[in-house]
Amino acid sequence: MASINSTSRVLSGMRPTGRLHLGHYHGVLKNWIRLQQEFDCYFFVADWHALTTHYEDPHIIAESVWEMVIDWLAAGVNPGSAQLFIQSHVPEHAELHLLLSMLTPLGWLERVPSYKDQQEKLRERDLATYGFLGYPLLQSADILIYGADKVPVGEDQVAHVELTREVARRFNHLYGREQGYEAAAEAAIKKMGKKNAKLYRELLKRYQEQGDHQAVEVAQALLAEQQNLALSDRERLLGFLEGGGRMILTEPSALLSPASKMPGLDGQKMSKSYHNTISLREAPEDVQEKLRTMPTDPARVRRTDPGNPDVCPVWQLHQVYSDDTQKAWVREGCSSAGIGCLECKQLIIDSVLAELKPIQERARDYERDPGRVRAIIHEGSEVARDVARQTLDEVRQVMGLKY
Ligand code: TRP
Ligand code: SF4
Repeated sequence: MASINSTSRVLSGMRPTGRLHLGHYHGVLKNWIRLQQEFDCYFFVADWHALTTHYEDPHIIAESVWEMVIDWLAAGVNPGSAQLFIQSHVPEHAELHLLLSMLTPLGWLERVPSYKDQQEKLRERDLATYGFLGYPLLQSADILIYGADKVPVGEDQVAHVELTREVARRFNHLYGREQGYEAAAEAAIKKMGKKNAKLYRELLKRYQEQGDHQAVEVAQALLAEQQNLALSDRERLLGFLEGGGRMILTEPSALLSPASKMPGLDGQKMSKSYHNTISLREAPEDVQEKLRTMPTDPARVRRTDPGNPDVCPVWQLHQVYSDDTQKAWVREGCSSAGIGCLECKQLIIDSVLAELKPIQERARDYERDPGRVRAIIHEGSEVARDVARQTLDEVRQVMGLKY
């Protein structure tokens, strides 16, 4: 099992809901490319996740799956160092999701911040569904089935990794106990005296049923105060609290992606919903046109007006693409009206085109050879399934599903 494997395993998924752009490249893909050199990496197309929000118009998913894989490969994700696959090609994810759903308290899912946030944000979609509520748990299954201990995610996904840890802990607590573990814990609880034992049980319940972290802290403090408990009993009850016992599922940690807020063409974060993107396969003429026409300091109407880079979206792109000398040249030239905005933008145009050139060349190779792309995914899915089956086998076993 992965939990006794010494090398770290990294897992991450991406929803196929459209073409990838420079925001994905700087925010996610460059990070994956770095991680694949160091760790055992599994990267997958999260098609079922996309369905939780796009079940009414799934065609976008089918259109995006292979294009997204091409974008990954073109960006430099290497099938020689990472396993690439499609979630629905590894149906074991669904079985683990089902089994985990048996022991996951509803409150844990209702409290995940993205549940309410996304419902508010995507008002045009009906997200009062079972699938949408459960999707963070599906994500937990994605992670736990590979025994992944590192999950690169953005800020918005940290709560999902946190949920995954709690589900793993609860699972290990329920099914990973050693013989007699529970009886020993019960005996230790009694040694605390009636009042404290009752309090401990209440805190345990509050944590396990409502995921109340404060309850764990209070219980830890309570245990620390118990002079009449032997250290071994105290440790036992600490472990009991956190679902101690044998570790069957590995608790992952989030690898918070370095907050790359890649600016879009309007200075807001680059995102499809803001219509301010440059896609990885954008034609060079269109890249040029988009950058030439992007807004600048609104106070700089004429070439002779001095400008202020701090209020200009182009300046934000210089933070990504330009070195100190270039930035000094821009700042000085802009505020003294020594340079024009087109000259200023030309540096960005050159950098973006240089960055996209090798990506687009590789993309063209893969576009011409769809069989190769399919073979890569097929192989990745086979490797993923082997690992997933092993985990699921053990899960079935400890849950008593072997007849
Ligand atoms: N939920 C993630 C997103 O919306 C995608 C995802 C699915 C994922 N399963 C995952 C990310 C497992 C990391 C690990 O972006
Ligand atoms: Fe913006 Fe550059 Fe024009 Fe200054 S010179 S306003 S930084 S585009």
